Amino acid sequence: MPSLDQAGATRLFGKYRLLRDLGAGGMAQIYLAAIDGPGGFEKQCVVKKILPEHAKNPNFAQMFIHEAKVAAMMSHQNIVQVFEFALEGENYFLAMEYVSGSALGRLMRAARKLGSALGPQVAVDVGLGIGHALEYAHAMQAADGTPMGIVHRDVSPENILVSRDGAVKLTDFGVVKSSMNAEATVAGVVKGKWAYMSPEQVTNQRVDGRSDLFSLGIVMYEACVGRRLFRGDSVAATVTALTSGTITPPSALVPDVPAGLDAIIMKALERSPARRYQSATELLHDLEAFRANQGWQPARRKLSELVNTLFPRDGSAPKSSITTLSMPGGAQAPSQNDEEELPLVSDSVKLMEPTPAGPSAALLVAIGLAAVLGSALVWVLLLLLDRPPS
Ligand SMILES: Nc1ncnc2c1ncn2[C@@H]1O[C@H](COP(=O)(O)OP(=O)(O)O)[C@@H](O)[C@H]1O
Ligand SMILES: [Mg+2]
Repeated sequence: MPSLDQAGATRLFGKYRLLRDLGAGGMAQIYLAAIDGPGGFEKQCVVKKILPEHAKNPNFAQMFIHEAKVAAMMSHQNIVQVFEFALEGENYFLAMEYVSGSALGRLMRAARKLGSALGPQVAVDVGLGIGHALEYAHAMQAADGTPMGIVHRDVSPENILVSRDGAVKLTDFGVVKSSMNAEATVAGVVKGKWAYMSPEQVTNQRVDGRSDLFSLGIVMYEACVGRRLFRGDSVAATVTALTSGTITPPSALVPDVPAGLDAIIMKALERSPARRYQSATELLHDLEAFRANQGWQPARRKLSELVNTLFPRDGSAPKSSITTLSMPGGAQAPSQNDEEELPLVSDSVKLMEPTPAGPSAALLVAIGLAAVLGSALVWVLLLLLDRPPS
């Protein structure tokens, strides 16, 4: 079997040349890789390999195999395309499309460092992209036409990738639970991240596609306002917040959020699934009507500009002002380590208030001072000339 970890040596994994680590999640290691062909042909892709400590656990392997089966069936522009699932030595791995860009979570943190939120237009475009992905996944059928009952269960900012050319893609169907595989719970593994779960998911009730819509509502909310919605200091605090905490409407935190968008996000965040959007199609309908009404164009170019500004291709520091973002604030370049959490909604109201003074107030004061000094000067000149004004 080809060696994976010889320092300095080209790391080969089957036909894949591993170029660099992209990160490790709960159960897998992700690599940027290349497949080589004749005449200098090279195609970049991503290899996702089950972590060695989990590889021998039959439950994990089972979950990974399930992810592979479901993911390989999918073909949609808003879902990261999986094109191979295989066994290399003792390692199961997936090969998939490489999305050159950034996870949405990383974009949110970088924007925050610049004193901004991604803003309403980005929130709408993420909602539309992931809404389309969910509409497709929720409607999937087995070969005999029976619905597969797919629920992603982990719609969260780290599983949403934004490419350099502005495409929005959902990945990581590792915690997908479908009726094909109702027993896919592995003891000790939290499937999905607490702060992005729906109330029914967190309380271990039956979930359906509407649960993913709640999670997408959280993502849209956070992209819009630049604050975490439900995350608490402990799992218990997070669960309490998401099952019963007050949800401040986005417009109460960011003044430029239109009422129509407030209503859409708050409907996605209805705690009772019966009061929520009943399908991704319904959510898409409202988002599209809202965007048309605002006269907003699809923001693909805007998203592309955002990724390239926050994470320039050449690895240089981001520009200090981001015209694509919605909120002014103290600009501070994101550091290399952008893992810092976003603040919470509950401690954000003060921070998020529009700055009433700002440059315009300073300007007024300066004009006032100039006027006083100017008229004093005129008085002095006139006195010197011994001609008091009438
Ligand atoms: N196809 C891809 N292209 C680019 N980056 C990716 C890709 N897949 C994953 N990543 C990066 O790796 C991270 C973890 O990937 P994910 O599939 O969500 O693994 P896990 O199951 O460990 O959460 C993502 O948040 C993203 O930053
Ligand atoms: Mg993930």
